Amino acid sequence: MAQAKRKKQASRKKKAPVRAKAQRGTSARGTSKKKASAKKKAGGARKKTARTKAARSSTKSRAKKRASPRVSTARPGKGRAARPKTRRPASNAAEMAEKQRDISVSEFFAKNRHLLGFDNPSKALLTTVKEGVDNALDACEEAGVAPDIQIEIHQKTDSRFRVVIEDNGPGIVREQVPKIFGRLLYGSKFHRLRQSRGQQGIGISAAGMYGLLTTGKPIRIVTRTGKRRQAHEFELVIDTQKNRPQVKRDGIIKWPKHHGTRVEIELEGNYRGGQHSVDNYIRQISLANPHAQITYVPPVAEEHGDKHIFPRVTRKLPPHTDEIQPHPYGTELGVLMQMFRDTKSRNLSACLRSDFSRVSPRVAGEICERAKISPKRRPSDIRREEADAIYKAIKQTKIMSPPTDCIAPIGENLILAALKAEVEADFYCAVTRRPTVYRGNPFLVEVGLAYGGEMPRDDSATLYRYANRVPLQYQQGACAITRAVGATNWKSYMLQHPKGALPIGPLLIMIHIASVWVPFTSESKDAVAQYPEIIKEFRFALQECGRKMTSYLRKQKRVAEEAKKAAYIEKYIPQVAIGLQEILSLGDRETSKLTHKLTDVLERSRKL
Ligand SMILES: Nc1ncnc2c1ncn2[C@@H]1O[C@H](COP(=O)(O)OP(=O)(O)OP(=O)(O)O)[C@@H](O)[C@H]1O
Ligand SMILES: [Mg+2]
Repeated sequence: MAQAKRKKQASRKKKAPVRAKAQRGTSARGTSKKKASAKKKAGGARKKTARTKAARSSTKSRAKKRASPRVSTARPGKGRAARPKTRRPASNAAEMAEKQRDISVSEFFAKNRHLLGFDNPSKALLTTVKEGVDNALDACEEAGVAPDIQIEIHQKTDSRFRVVIEDNGPGIVREQVPKIFGRLLYGSKFHRLRQSRGQQGIGISAAGMYGLLTTGKPIRIVTRTGKRRQAHEFELVIDTQKNRPQVKRDGIIKWPKHHGTRVEIELEGNYRGGQHSVDNYIRQISLANPHAQITYVPPVAEEHGDKHIFPRVTRKLPPHTDEIQPHPYGTELGVLMQMFRDTKSRNLSACLRSDFSRVSPRVAGEICERAKISPKRRPSDIRREEADAIYKAIKQTKIMSPPTDCIAPIGENLILAALKAEVEADFYCAVTRRPTVYRGNPFLVEVGLAYGGEMPRDDSATLYRYANRVPLQYQQGACAITRAVGATNWKSYMLQHPKGALPIGPLLIMIHIASVWVPFTSESKDAVAQYPEIIKEFRFALQECGRKMTSYLRKQKRVAEEAKKAAYIEKYIPQVAIGLQEILSLGDRETSKLTHKLTDVLERSRKL
């Protein structure tokens, strides 16, 4: 047995080096085989194409490299250096899964602050003022109070400002303050269809977050909801990782105002003049909100004196607007399905009647009949195919347009008054169009024009854009308003017009869109999206104003020509009278009478 074992071990010892040799041999053979085949291939290719020549040379160089891998033939600065053999780090699904997590909305917007209008220091200052003033005006109007708003900008250092916005609105309930100012996407306007300046629930908390990120200072709020209530003072910051407020101070203070809110934000900014300036914004907002009294304390007091007051022109608030339900025509299939899931109504007919505007019992019945679904069906049980049938039936059913009393225009008279206050011109006109609908949302367009006067004749027209009474100062090129102005044929209104651009001439154009939901191109609310229905309305309003302006300009031209002719004839009346005196042998009295008569005839026949 032992002998047999020994024999086996000895034979194993003998075989092992052979196997090792064999392995080495195979690999060596393999290499030499490869080399041979490369040579063969290269040799064959010599006669063929240049491409194969290149392939051959690369094969050769690869072979060289393989022979002496550590020697780099590349000279510094010339050719490609030998690449170090580093392994690309690769993650597997499990490792990737470890990194995947929720992104809080405030983290997102802190990174993408340009989306909210905080892309540069001067815009950041303007956006902060704008968000505060929008909220103040909205709150006052909602409470039926004539707005009295104070805007202060205090310069702390070269690039640091403290913005204060104080209003006489209804104030904010204590429990709500941290959520409103310390959470993005929290507000009262997003879920309703009603005309207001704010709509997204981001504005003021984003301004506070920007202030915190750039200066580390919390947002300060003082608010009081009534004479018998105490004023609360808060200092809070936003926890961007959680999108939750952190209250730093919550106390009671003495505040002379009976109701209202004061917001203070410190931020890195830049105060400058020009088209995009805060001063310009305040002037424009006071034009579109003649019912508001605005007191402005600029950082550079010498510019306007200590305070600059934009007085209210009227105490009459804009007409009260009601909240409306979505119109069935503007509701998409997914939204419709969601509404069926969320409704409080017990059956389909009741859901259609109560959750949509302009759906009467008859219209609801017609929709159900067309869709071949019982009006008694439970909305939450409706399947996707059935919802699709209802969606199609809605499109085929005649439904009244949405109610339009939910929109409050500025009105032609106030637009004219605003334009007259803004520029000295020869001609003013304004048009308020009838409300109409885009994607089921009612909207209305207004245009005001001022022509002539002191405005420069060789420059492009000035364009003031407004959405729900808020001036839009940035992204003019991306806005539907600008597009509509560019697409209007101003040459037919006697103005020069480079294609697609603003017309040239002494012209100020003021355009306002009022809607229950203004479709902005981004969260910074700088430009109106280019919906064809909206552009069409802008153009109609511009054309209406353009026609009025042309008839004025034609009349002016006619008057000027007539005056020229009359002056010419008038010059020769005395000569005619002398001639007649000689022919008819008239006395001096008769000649002077004749002169008067001729002048009278001229005036009557050439009435201007
Ligand atoms: N000065 C104020 N007085 C009373 N309520 C206010 C005031 N400021 C804000 N609010 C309330 O706080 C909410 C959130 O304001 P925020 O500016 O963040 O969003 P929004 O105005 O709803 O929409 P947007 O983002 O378009 O401005 C408002 O919807 C409003 O209910
Ligand atoms: Mg707001």
